[in-house]
Parts: sequence; structure tokens; C-alpha cells
Amino acid sequence: HRTDYNKYYEINRKAARFFFRKLTEGPNPGYAYLRKRGLKDNTIRKFGLGYAPDSWNALMNHLEKEGVTTQDMLKLGLIQQGRKGYYDKFRNRVIFPIINTAGKVIGFGGRALGDVQPKYLNSSESDIFLKKNNLYALNITKKDISSEDQVLMVEGYMDVISLYQNGIHNVTASLGTALTENQGRLISRYTKNVVLSYDADNAGINAAMRGIDIIRKAECDVRVLQINDGKDPDEFVRKNGKEAFLELIRNAVPATDFRLSVLRRGFDFKSDNQVLEYIRRCVPVMEQLSPVEQDIYIRKLSEEFGISEYAIAGEIRADSGKQA
Ligand code: CTP
Ligand code: MN
Ligand code: MN
Ligand code: MN
Ligand code: MN
Repeated sequence: HRTDYNKYYEINRKAARFFFRKLTEGPNPGYAYLRKRGLKDNTIRKFGLGYAPDSWNALMNHLEKEGVTTQDMLKLGLIQQGRKGYYDKFRNRVIFPIINTAGKVIGFGGRALGDVQPKYLNSSESDIFLKKNNLYALNITKKDISSEDQVLMVEGYMDVISLYQNGIHNVTASLGTALTENQGRLISRYTKNVVLSYDADNAGINAAMRGIDIIRKAECDVRVLQINDGKDPDEFVRKNGKEAFLELIRNAVPATDFRLSVLRRGFDFKSDNQVLEYIRRCVPVMEQLSPVEQDIYIRKLSEEFGISEYAIAGEIRADSGKQA
């Protein structure tokens, strides 16, 4: 027995068309919201964005007329069951259809128009929609990722769309979860050069720290881009434009430099103890490097803190010995 995936993809496509029509046919709060965030009509069309009306059953009634069963709507997570019956899952939200590299609509993300919680809602997981196996907008951006031989990994749907509208097309995002090994393998089919471009907050830093390991498992080179104005790529590029963002890409640092810089936080190096503690924390990071790479970072630390290369190498050997 095998699920008829195409049937479900077709239902999702019907839902995507419905949401798109609601966004583009006449005045509505979703369109006003996206315009306020700077999106142009051709961007809205390119990404097939939509609006879920402020109604308990607008989509459900529409799909019913199209002959879709309640059971199938439930399976796709388009409706939910309450005490008084079924109701639309997405209400008064801007809709981001999630389309796989084969062009099938596998699910939806929905953003609240104001401060309503949760800010984002995603379709529930099913065998049609597996977040861990897919990346946002890759159907659109995979060509650019291949031809540029580089991908920018961002956190959010709006980061992808905003960069894209500003002429930076080699971009994708995970689907509201931490990067997975499958996503690492997926992206490595298009390029081996990954630039992590996460939000400029602690969550973004932690996501980058974890993302580095995932990307390396997929045998890709990783660099980390640091946003220095605004909280995420969307805000940065809207305010500073394409050239300034390209400059951030050029300034993205190798994964090891990023890790060592994160480990530095909180140290003032006013005492020898602080220096020793920092260097000891660097050791596990450096152990993962090739001998030549180790040599480079040992020299950097040696020059910075006035400690012999021999002594730093000794710390690494001592630690490796402990683990063996
Ligand atoms: N996310 C989610 N559920 C939430 C918050 C976030 O699934 N409650 C996911 C979404 O995919 C979102 C991403 O995490 O795009 C990044 O979250 P965040 O940085 O908070 O949002 P932004 O993408 O910056 O969204 P916006 O600019 O619309 O505020
Ligand atoms: Mn392009
Ligand atoms: Mn964030
Ligand atoms: Mn944002
Ligand atoms: Mn963000």
C-alpha cells in the first residue's frame, strides 16, 4: 500500500491558489501588511504568497466545493477539529507556500499580521510535509545556488524573500527548525560553499554554532556572516541595500574564527588566568582541525597573547591524550 501523494499535492495546490487569490484579488489586510514590509507585486507572485481570510471556514468551504474530503483536509493539516466541528487552521495570516524541489506544494507557513501569538504557524508534520527534508524556496533558488556555487542559509521566510527581491538569489532557509543533516545533504547537491546568515541575536549565534557541525558533516565549507545593523538579513538589506549585503558576504568569517570569537565573549583578559581559561576552551575547537589549520590558529593565538606556539600545541596534545 502506498499513499497517493499526488492527490495530496493537488489539494495543497488548490489551497495555495485560494490563498493567492485572497491576497491579490482585492483589498485585504494581508496585502497591506506585505506592502508595509516592502514587498513588490512581482515578488508576491514569484513566491506565490497568499492571505488566509479572517474566517473559521473560508478555505474549508472552498475546498469542499472542489470535492475535497474533510479527511484529506485534516490529513494535510489545513483544518482542525474543535468541540463544535472543524475549522480552518490558518486564519488572518499571510501565507508562505512551501514547495519542494520537484515543484510540489508540501505545506504552508502562516504569519500573523500583528502581535498575535504564535507569530508563525506551520502545517503539521505528515509524510507529505517533512520539515527535516526540505528547505524553503529551493525550487526557485536552486539554479542560482548552483551557478553562484554558494548558498546563504537564513532563518526566516522573510529573509529569503527580502534578499531575493534585493537581487541576492542564492538563498534558502530551514522551515522554522534547526538545520538538519538531511537539509545539509540536500544543499550539498547544489554547492559545497555555505554561508550561515542567521539573526544577530543569541538564538542566531547558537543556531550558527550548531549549524557549523551539520554543514561540515555534509562535507561543505562553512563561513558565518555577521549582521552589524538590524536584527536579521531582511532588516539589513532593506535598510542598506544589495551592495552592503554583498560586502557582509565577503566579510563572512571561517567557521573556526567564528567559534573562537564566540568563546571569547565574557573574557576581559586582565589576568593570566583568563588567558589560560580562554585558550583551554579553544582547544576542543582546534582539535577538530587538520594539522595545517591547527598550525594557523596556534600562530594566531600565540601572537595575540604572547604565549609560545609550543605551549599552545602542548595544551592540544595534552587534551587529545585525555580523550584517547
Ligand atoms: N518561526 C516559527 N515559529 C515561531 C517563530 C519563528 O516557526 N513562533 C520560524 C519561522 O520559519 C521564521 C523563523 O523561525 O521565519 C525565524 O524566526 P524569527 O527570526 O522570529 O522571525 P522572522 O523570520 O524574522 O519573521 P518576521 O521578520 O516576520 O518577524
Ligand atoms: Mn538569479
Ligand atoms: Mn530570530
Ligand atoms: Mn525578520
Ligand atoms: Mn528574524
